[in-house]
Amino acid sequence: MKKLSLGIKRIEGEIIPPSDKSITHRAILVGSLANKGFRIKRALISADILSTVNCLRSLGKDIRIEGCEIHIIKGNLREASGILDCGNSGTTARLLAGLLAAQPFYSVLDGDDSLRRRPMKRIVEPLRLMGAQIFGRQDDSFLPLSLRGGYLHGVDYELPVASSQVKSALILAGLLAEGTTIIREKIKTRDHLERMLQYLGVELNCENNSIRVRPQEKVDSGEITVPGDISSAAFLISAAVMLPNSHLVIRRVNFNPTRIGFIKVLDKMGARLSILSLENKFNEEIADLEVKTSELKAVEIEASDIPSLVDEIPLIALLATQAHGLTKITGAKELRYKECDRLHAIWVNLKRMGAKVVELEDGLVIEGPTKLKGAKVESFNDHRIAMTMAVAATVAGGEVWIDQDDCLKISYPDFWEHFMAVSH
Ligand code: S3P
Repeated sequence: MKKLSLGIKRIEGEIIPPSDKSITHRAILVGSLANKGFRIKRALISADILSTVNCLRSLGKDIRIEGCEIHIIKGNLREASGILDCGNSGTTARLLAGLLAAQPFYSVLDGDDSLRRRPMKRIVEPLRLMGAQIFGRQDDSFLPLSLRGGYLHGVDYELPVASSQVKSALILAGLLAEGTTIIREKIKTRDHLERMLQYLGVELNCENNSIRVRPQEKVDSGEITVPGDISSAAFLISAAVMLPNSHLVIRRVNFNPTRIGFIKVLDKMGARLSILSLENKFNEEIADLEVKTSELKAVEIEASDIPSLVDEIPLIALLATQAHGLTKITGAKELRYKECDRLHAIWVNLKRMGAKVVELEDGLVIEGPTKLKGAKVESFNDHRIAMTMAVAATVAGGEVWIDQDDCLKISYPDFWEHFMAVSH
């Protein structure tokens, strides 16, 4: 057990959040197609990212990590001699499946117990429509997945679930398929891959929530710098909003419109948050933000809001316990299929801390404000649940203990260091 209540009174200072996980994964995968080499500066180096790196190393790529720079040396992909271990990373498994579906060799993708429980039919079905030979456990629902890659043709496909991982897998497959691939989204999800490919000179047509991909000359070589991850910055932002007399500056955080739902919700809740600067670099918006202690009011979140704040729902639920009124989150069933069932996990933990929270099939209802109390909480071995509870502990009246916090190496290995640096 680890004690989370550290007697923190206020948050004061400046942080540069860890680099964006989604962008780093995509850069490594795009870079692995560049036959003359690719350099990623300010990459996130975390357990999930190492899953992607190690899979590509098994596929014959020479990848060097020096500090926070990843250098993908020239050379082609080739068949791995063993199973590709995606660890805990859904992004690795799903995007890699898209990329490998078009490679002329056999691959097997597997992961840890959590990843083996996450839905994979959502990528198997469209990739099969493109001609892929791909199979999974339990009627193609789960890992391990096996693929005999090869010839793919374009399809016109509307995503049944709002998932950037599925969209990105299909874009990667579409780049290597014959003919045009059209991917249609009902609700726009994070578009880092589209932006990155366009920055690197790949012709992609993105209009009215649909993407047209045509086979083309691959990216030869390239270099990008990764901005900070707003989903990671959200933890310390939340602590600063809730703790009295707090003032936090967040530097160089990604402010892509498909990722800032959390910031918009904070604004609706009445948070004192300002954008200090905003610029576009490497085809991504990057901002400096400032946040101060705020009096919060309840908010309503529905299905169309979810993709832009999907990973921040646990934090929004926590903030809602400190906000005046009834917060209702619906249309969020996707959270049940993340690293753990996040709707249930946050309900269990907030309930133990004395919050007035009801679990819905597709969301949560929270009545605030409530003075949270000390409790034993569970990480469910999920990085975002563990960090949300660390933030919850800052406003709890008693001691908060968690079963383990090792999982935060998945996305934010320096979490405790950053937290302590701005805690007073
Ligand atoms: C991600 C997309 C989201 C998100 C995950 C990372 C990505 O998943 O929850 O943490 O990098 O594409 P879905 O696309 O499955 O919603």
